[in-house]
Amino acid sequence: MSNTYILGIESSCDETAAAVVRSGEQVISNVVASQIATHQLYGGVVPELASREHLRAIVPVVRQALAEAGKNYDSIDALAVTQGPGLAGALLVGISYAKALAFALEKLLIAVNHLEGHIHAVLLEERQKGNHDLSFPLLALVVSGGHTHLYLAEQRGESWSYENIGHTRDDAAGEAFDKVAKLLGLGYPGGPVIDRLAAHGNPRAVKFPPSQIKHPDRKTPTLSQKTRKDGAPEPGRKGGRPTSELVRPRFDFSYSGIKTAVLRYVKLRGLALSIEARKKALVGIAEPALEDYLANCDQLTLDLIASFQRAMVEDLVGKTLAAAREYDVATLFVSGGVAANNELRRTFEREGSREGLWVYFPSRPLSTDNAAMIAAAAYPKFLAGEFAEMDFSAQAGMVLK
Ligand code: KG4
Ligand code: ZN
Repeated sequence: MSNTYILGIESSCDETAAAVVRSGEQVISNVVASQIATHQLYGGVVPELASREHLRAIVPVVRQALAEAGKNYDSIDALAVTQGPGLAGALLVGISYAKALAFALEKLLIAVNHLEGHIHAVLLEERQKGNHDLSFPLLALVVSGGHTHLYLAEQRGESWSYENIGHTRDDAAGEAFDKVAKLLGLGYPGGPVIDRLAAHGNPRAVKFPPSQIKHPDRKTPTLSQKTRKDGAPEPGRKGGRPTSELVRPRFDFSYSGIKTAVLRYVKLRGLALSIEARKKALVGIAEPALEDYLANCDQLTLDLIASFQRAMVEDLVGKTLAAAREYDVATLFVSGGVAANNELRRTFEREGSREGLWVYFPSRPLSTDNAAMIAAAAYPKFLAGEFAEMDFSAQAGMVLK
């Protein structure tokens, strides 16, 4: 079928989203209802409130996505919904609604892994631009408020498979941005604010020690050590040692230490009072603009923010490019909320091109959580006939394979 319209539904965290995507390559509509205003008061996502907000938003958001696409339920070929990972109660809202719609309308239903969605956000937009020739093997960094994961992605026919070669041992990168912003009285979510303020500070002012990972050299068997049924060469390895002898290192991340280092710096420099004053001032402004943040940040704080962001970016880029070298990949995808970060994009583009890598990001609206990426990731499953049984449930800790 050349024109397949899939209605995607996403509710894994604090965004209720619905979108219509044609054949995994064209966004027809993309509606996102953010809950930021609800969670801002608490400085982070409150799961109970998230579920309640999803319940409120899901019906109007889905209807709006159909209306903006000029579609009705009859002209949709299939429904797709995020199965996990995410907040169980939040996921269940999207899943229950998608199941009810699929049952009542006799439509096919596809269950999608949220992380696969983030990867397919990049593929969707590249296809939309007419780029159908990506070089494999492909390395994907999914970096968001809940994840910092590195995957090797392969496509065989219509099926995609993923191998995790690294992930965070503690906090996700976006979580570190959010926690540091909260610590500095900058509100929630922290990533976008730090991104803008960092440009006004000196990124070399504060030195942060490199992240400490226990057993950094731990080697884990990868595809190479499992006997591959098809006898195909291991992805990324074009020659050299027999694949059965290869043992590859992992490329794990850790961001709880840098958060503690920021806290230590705040204490050392006696910044507590100015942080309290900033918090009070910003709470009084409905939607603070950059000028409001700048008016409430001294140079010491701006330098700390810039140095924190620089350390995060250097760690993310350094480890990802080391993995790209190890696995001899040609293409790199960077997606998830933190992929919206300006310095991260610039650094990946600069350093990636130095290494001869093709680096791709989603546009900013498709970097953060959305349902277009869920509808896009569902398309290959639609072609392969991989539909969900009606008794599937939310998987809060769903693994991508
Ligand atoms: O992908 P996403 O919308 O939701 C999750 O699946 O977590 O990512 C949200 C995360 C938050 O931690 C937010 O602070 C971070 O992405 N983020 C950013 C930027 N925009 C969003 N981090 C750094 N720089 C940004 N510009
Ligand atoms: Zn996400």
